[in-house]
Amino acid sequence: MKTFKIALIPGDGIGPEVVAEGVKVLRTIEQLDPSISFSFTEFPWGCEYYLKHGKMMADDGIEQLKEFDAIYLGAVGYPGVPDHISLWDLLLRIRKEFDQYVNIRPITLLNPELTPLKGKTAKEIDFLVIRENSEGEYAGAGDWLFKGKPEEVVLQTGVFSRKGTERIIRYAYEEARNSKRTLTSISKANALNYSMVFWDEVFNEVGKEYPDVKTYSYLVDAASLYFVTEPERFEVVVTSNLFGDILTDIGAAITGGMGLATGANVNPERKFPSMFEPVHGSAPDISGKGIANPIAAIWSVSQVMDFFGEEQWGEAILSTIKEILTEQPSLTSDLGGNSSTSQVGDRFVDLLSAKV
Ligand code: NAI
Ligand code: MG
Repeated sequence: MKTFKIALIPGDGIGPEVVAEGVKVLRTIEQLDPSISFSFTEFPWGCEYYLKHGKMMADDGIEQLKEFDAIYLGAVGYPGVPDHISLWDLLLRIRKEFDQYVNIRPITLLNPELTPLKGKTAKEIDFLVIRENSEGEYAGAGDWLFKGKPEEVVLQTGVFSRKGTERIIRYAYEEARNSKRTLTSISKANALNYSMVFWDEVFNEVGKEYPDVKTYSYLVDAASLYFVTEPERFEVVVTSNLFGDILTDIGAAITGGMGLATGANVNPERKFPSMFEPVHGSAPDISGKGIANPIAAIWSVSQVMDFFGEEQWGEAILSTIKEILTEQPSLTSDLGGNSSTSQVGDRFVDLLSAKV
């Protein structure tokens, strides 16, 4: 019997609503597969915790999380707490302290009806974005001088270390090689004359070790256009923190929206736990109504199972998502259905159970 220790951080807004459905799926796997069990520990961290305690997580929070095999997070951020605080003091803190330097976001059209792109098929929208997740434009480096004065100056510095750039690019080459796919680097060396010139150089240098991988290099503006007009150009994509953040939202848009987009924050060396989360935020506009789409959070569970080496379950979840997406009434209203969050979860585990 394998027991996986999972830390739950449901967070704010719709976070707890969708995480509950993900946990329902994990509990179902536990019942269906006698070789697997999970132990869950829930942490109440987030904006409500902040309003009570003046901090987003416990002082020794990172220490507490260290012993887990994975962290499953809903969403953080809520009106009443500035977004830069909620983001930096919980989510980005975990990503940094646990050196989760790889952000993996599948851009896969699971149902052809769901793309707003006319005439594009599931075959044409199926790629993986690997986003640098530890430094770059989100390094938090900069200064704020002469605050409030006429001569006020703000500096936000991109930080691209040789170590940080090489390791993400090498990770992407490995992924492309292992899956026999092409690799596209997205940068902006014409305007960012230090950081992105360096990025491109490292991409070419590391590429010498991977002569079998076919590569492309695009500027981020052109790439944004191709994401929409010719997504079939992409198989594996590697890009910086900021560009990856923006591009993957375009990726979400062409595959069915925020309710379906998921992302893993991975520490490949497995020295620290990795963290799995839907890409969407806490959606204050719909929270508490029971109408949030839990499928992105359920897709995260598929990534968790892959990460645990239980790929058969990762696959089973993904194929069940494809199946439920063909039953419109079983979906939430963002996908044109009329089911509640928990009804989607219930139907999902029925379909999953029927598969086994
Ligand atoms: P959001 O992703 O929360 O919402 C954007 C839009 O998508 C809203 O109209 C929302 O109703 C809809 N939406 C999102 N998830 C959905 C779901 N599962 N089902 C149905 N509809 C869904 O982004 P927004 O409004 O910019 O941010 C709200 C808060 O969330 C902010 O405090 C922000 O900082 C935080 N946030 C947190 C993230 C995280 O924890 N990783 C990521 C993005 C935002
Ligand atoms: Mg984002």
